[in-house]
Amino acid sequence: MTEASQLFDAGERLDAAALRALQLERLQNTLRHAYDHVPFYRQAFDKAGLRPQDCRSLDDLARFPFTTKADLRANYPYGMFAVPRDRIRRIHASSGTTGRPTVVGYTENDLSLWADMVARAIRAAGGRPGDTIHVAYGYGLFTGGLGAHYGAERLGCTVVPASGGMTARQVQLIRDLEPRIIMITPSYMLTLLDEFERQGVDPRGTSLRIGIFGAEPWTEGMRQEIEERFGIDAVDIYGLSEVIGPGVAQECVETKDGLHIWEDHFCPEVVDPVTGEVLPEGAEGELVLTSLTKEAMPVIRYRTRDLTRLLPGTARVFRRMRKITGRSDDMVILRGVNLFPTQIEEIVLRTPGVAPHFQLRLTREGRLDALTVRVEARPGATPEARREAARAVAAAVKNGIGVSVAVEIVEPESLERSVGKIRRIVDLRPR
Ligand code: DLL
Repeated sequence: MTEASQLFDAGERLDAAALRALQLERLQNTLRHAYDHVPFYRQAFDKAGLRPQDCRSLDDLARFPFTTKADLRANYPYGMFAVPRDRIRRIHASSGTTGRPTVVGYTENDLSLWADMVARAIRAAGGRPGDTIHVAYGYGLFTGGLGAHYGAERLGCTVVPASGGMTARQVQLIRDLEPRIIMITPSYMLTLLDEFERQGVDPRGTSLRIGIFGAEPWTEGMRQEIEERFGIDAVDIYGLSEVIGPGVAQECVETKDGLHIWEDHFCPEVVDPVTGEVLPEGAEGELVLTSLTKEAMPVIRYRTRDLTRLLPGTARVFRRMRKITGRSDDMVILRGVNLFPTQIEEIVLRTPGVAPHFQLRLTREGRLDALTVRVEARPGATPEARREAARAVAAAVKNGIGVSVAVEIVEPESLERSVGKIRRIVDLRPR
């Protein structure tokens, strides 16, 4: 047996047929659990004329109604819970950009499942028992910090619960405590890079070998930048609080070819964001997730708003999702052309003379929306190099995406730095 196959847990060792059978059994249980214990689901299923027992195959899931963020908000705070309050051991919440937060709850078993999922993710990223892991995701209501924390402990690692912020201290901790792995948002990793340089410390000279990056979209260009600047393997972790937190899907370090979805616990679909129709494997659309084993807050066909495509498994039996292109909410529609911040990121990262720090400013000129891409110059870039970079970015956007934007090259270190999830779009349009 190879080292990898010895390391797989029972779920990862299932064959495809056994996996589908297990999913169906778990799906049927989840539908029943949701219908019996959450009035919202009972009403939604009744309205659609469906009973849990109408799900006889995995394809039948598509007949059931979607659940949206608005549904969770409407049932704030505890309306989506399927167990009595005294069985809830933990609450998390997503701040959301507008209105009420979304509250999620976990039973003891849910917390254990979550730790297992994150432990599996860290192992797929190349982590092993005995490794020291620096967790720079925020601790608190956000699921990143505590989710990573308990998963790392479950795998048998030593955790440094650094949380986000106090960037100078993060660098100090990495130098002194010698972690092999860091879990952090990709944008905050760039902030750490600046700090290493400010302190005159070579970022390639640390003990770090693996970075597990998620909580926001990032591109292949960013992977290359981070891998080169830090001398590490950079892999992608995905999740969302409504479904469990980090640990829904993870990229395997040996293939780095998209994220394997832990399908024995979460059932993915990709749908047309407008019509809701289920799309065939490989087509780009909105990811929809159904939990298969959660107790406190089962979610049925949750609309993530994240855009991706499903692909067959490679390093694992589970299907993969491609790196997320963006959220439908972050899509800018400019004179009829759809544009995602990740597309700009790809362009910025391959343009000489500019740093990987950028911001998108949306304004309105008359009746038309306009976009200004503000990008930092690399330190030492000459005025001529800056002008050339501005021209190159504008041309790449025009040729690659098909729309004209203004490009402003700004001074090094002048754009706001991330300490967690970065905000790429600054919307200055009048309401
Ligand atoms: O961000 C959970 C998480 C923490 C995932 C740490 C990974 C690492 P929320 O705050 O509920 O939960 O935000 C979920 O973040 O719907 C995506 O839009 C985005 N997101 C999360 N991971 C990725 C990723 C956490 N790897 C929302 N790539 C999701 C792109 C991601 N977007």
